[in-house]
Amino acid sequence: MTSPVQTTTIVIFGASGDLTWRKLIPALYNNFRKNRLSPQTIIVGFARREYTDDIFRAHLRDGVHRFSPETFDPDLWARFERSIRYFRGHLDAPADFLRLNTFLCSLEGGPANRLYYLATAPEHYAPVASALNAADMSRNDPESGAWRRIIVEKPFGTDLLSAQALNQALHAAFDESQIYRIDHYLGKETAQNILFFRFANAIFEPIWNRRYVSNVQITVAETVDVESRAGFYDRAGVVRDMFQNHLLQLLALVAMEPPASFNADAVRNEIVKVLQSVRPIALEDAVRAQYQGYRLTPGVAPDSRTPTYAAFKLYIDNWRWRGVPFYLRSGKALKQKTSEIIIEFQRPPHLMFRLPPGESIVPNILSLCIQPNEGIHLSFQAKVPDSDQEMRSVEMEFHYRNSFTDRSIPEAYERLLMEALEGDASLFTRSDGIETAWRLIDPILQAWEQSDTPSLVFYPRGSWGPPEAEALLAREGHIWRLGCSSC
Ligand code: BG6
Repeated sequence: MTSPVQTTTIVIFGASGDLTWRKLIPALYNNFRKNRLSPQTIIVGFARREYTDDIFRAHLRDGVHRFSPETFDPDLWARFERSIRYFRGHLDAPADFLRLNTFLCSLEGGPANRLYYLATAPEHYAPVASALNAADMSRNDPESGAWRRIIVEKPFGTDLLSAQALNQALHAAFDESQIYRIDHYLGKETAQNILFFRFANAIFEPIWNRRYVSNVQITVAETVDVESRAGFYDRAGVVRDMFQNHLLQLLALVAMEPPASFNADAVRNEIVKVLQSVRPIALEDAVRAQYQGYRLTPGVAPDSRTPTYAAFKLYIDNWRWRGVPFYLRSGKALKQKTSEIIIEFQRPPHLMFRLPPGESIVPNILSLCIQPNEGIHLSFQAKVPDSDQEMRSVEMEFHYRNSFTDRSIPEAYERLLMEALEGDASLFTRSDGIETAWRLIDPILQAWEQSDTPSLVFYPRGSWGPPEAEALLAREGHIWRLGCSSC
């Protein structure tokens, strides 16, 4: 949906913050470099600090230089920065929004589209939406065709009730079709490729179900600890920070039914449908843990019970997946950084080859490597040459870096910003999607926060998490697998 209006203004609220510096401006700069931004794009940063345009630009230049060094080009930056302006204002001052509107109108000089980006602390999301509405800045203009859209960062609420309240507040100012809720995992090339892998090939879908798949594992492991984010993290914990959004979205991409077309409604209908089919997670199928030493982090309560690691077993009650366990795990201060999805297939029903006593055949494993070693691996059994009946697992591997030598993998924000500018919401979470995800997670959080069962356990930094997470799989005869490290 392109509007005939040529000028588009991107207004970033929270423009002096880290997200703008590290991610948003580098992403916009790279889109500019790739000639994807219309020449009539204006970028306005809104924040409290006393910056001038020049100081603001110098700060952003430093961010691009640091976070996108391989693409930074001083001449290109000099051209790009001409589109950037700074506006000093307070998020809680309605008069500042009226002033902002006048400022924007004077820059735009006529009808213009506007993309508002909420890169602020979450408590400002609802007030900013309502202030934009009150200043008459939120409605599309049917006469000129100029649109208004708003991008909302995560975290989107802290539980179901707060997410519903936030949805209501946004809907009071914007129509759902104008709202783009970010989950940067959906902007990752490799996450989007799950849909292409499944639905642009005919050979995988027939075996993508309970008859052939034994279990599915989603691991999002980080080596970093909470770093300087203790204030936020100690209130949130890993389930709010990673599961409610990123892991459940990955689960949906792997498990959803094929949409009839690749458009926002069709894709998001299937995402919501599959999330609605997830059986309520049993408390005994959830493990919570904290890395040793977490409580010593400045800003963390000395008796904090916030989990920095969690593992869940869940089931999807539909025809395709009935009875197949989906294991999800994520944590900080783990041994290795990797985000990957393992599809473990059933073992052959009958084996005619001799195995050494006590050994069973290794199942076929398909590994979707989200990051950092982007690619896809399929492991299968092969006869060891010059042996009688000895077998070994071997791998067929696809690596982005070898197959797409002329294209590098863009940052998620690059893609997501372009999609929002182009009006394609497929990669953004819809209100019912967010609420469905909270509905799944809320009961576990409530149970954990109200009682000590199952108790919080601890794991050493640099490990793969607590033994309880191994036991969760061992009950079904499964083990956690990693399939991407050999990339
Ligand atoms: C963010 C979380 O959403 O995702 C962080 O708030 C986490 O805690 C980050 O580190 C992980 O993202 P990525 O892209 O590095 O896997």
